[in-house]
Amino acid sequence: MLALTVRPGQPQSVKLETVPPPPVSDGAILVRTLSLGVCGTDREIISGEYGAAPAGEERLIIGHESLGRVEEAPAGSGFAPGDLVVGIVRRPDPVPCPACAAGEWDMCRNGRYTERGIKSRNGYGSEQFRVEPEFAVKLDPALGEAGVLMEPTSIVAKAWEQCLRIGHRGAAWQPRTALISGAGPIGLLAAMIGAQGGLDIHVYDRNKDGPKPDLAAGLGVTYHSEFPDLGALSPDIVIECTGAAPVVKQTVAAAAAGVVCLTGVSATGHDITFDIGGFNRAMVLDNRAVFGSVNANRRHYEAAAEALAKADRAWLTRLITRRVPLTRWAEAFERCDGDIKVVVDFESGLDSRSH
Ligand code: BGC
Repeated sequence: MLALTVRPGQPQSVKLETVPPPPVSDGAILVRTLSLGVCGTDREIISGEYGAAPAGEERLIIGHESLGRVEEAPAGSGFAPGDLVVGIVRRPDPVPCPACAAGEWDMCRNGRYTERGIKSRNGYGSEQFRVEPEFAVKLDPALGEAGVLMEPTSIVAKAWEQCLRIGHRGAAWQPRTALISGAGPIGLLAAMIGAQGGLDIHVYDRNKDGPKPDLAAGLGVTYHSEFPDLGALSPDIVIECTGAAPVVKQTVAAAAAGVVCLTGVSATGHDITFDIGGFNRAMVLDNRAVFGSVNANRRHYEAAAEALAKADRAWLTRLITRRVPLTRWAEAFERCDGDIKVVVDFESGLDSRSH
């Protein structure tokens, strides 16, 4: 079968190559890949900055945003041929730490977790993959191609859950307004979940035109192409989805904000000045919380499946701005103006849509 592989640590080593069929040790469910979402983490792996091959191997099959159709599933597994599924990304560490032992591998304490397509475990970027029933999630068949948005939605489902848990430190806390920085897939999906929860959602993104303002309007949320005045907005929750150091600084320094969740993985080495005394003072005097959130456990995938099922299908489909056929896979990793979510199409005979 064909698979997208890289030699981790070696820039531009990505290629489409023939590899053996997925081993049964990857899981009892055999899945035919329909499409694969591409994100910043994949680009980092391709540029040699991140990622690890499975132990004893040189190359890693990349891809962690899966969508496929079950071809084989054992009786009693809860899955049947034809089911639309995605695979969960992370696997618990082998010890396991107390978090992994409790099924909260997203909160792994010893860092020895593995991640499909990212860290020491082959990913979903192959024509077929195998997955364990306990790490597969069934999707509403009506979702169709939008099902590839499941993994990024699980990331924001976790971010929202954590914001609400932290906010409820104050017994009378009632969130009304939230600011999302960044209108990429993570930001827009975060806005979607917030809007479903009835909050007054504000999205900040530097793009003045292109599809982002329209997609925000489609959710009925307010779009800002200049960073809003936080004093006036006074958001109860901020979810930072750009990872861009200057935006992180703006969100973190927002004294009026309650709970600030950081979800973007920044490039390191951006030395910007930051008033740590002022930050500490605001944190203490306003009972503020700034925290990071990564990955997702099964509970978050289930919350994501619910959020996607409630969402407007046409709106979700508009988040997928480019579908690149597997034969032209390299284009999927290029950045183009107006990109939101780019997917590699593993189904033959489909041509890429225009940008
Ligand atoms: C994935 C997460 C993963 C993280 C760090 C993200 O792109 O969505 O599941 O934990 O990268 O490897």
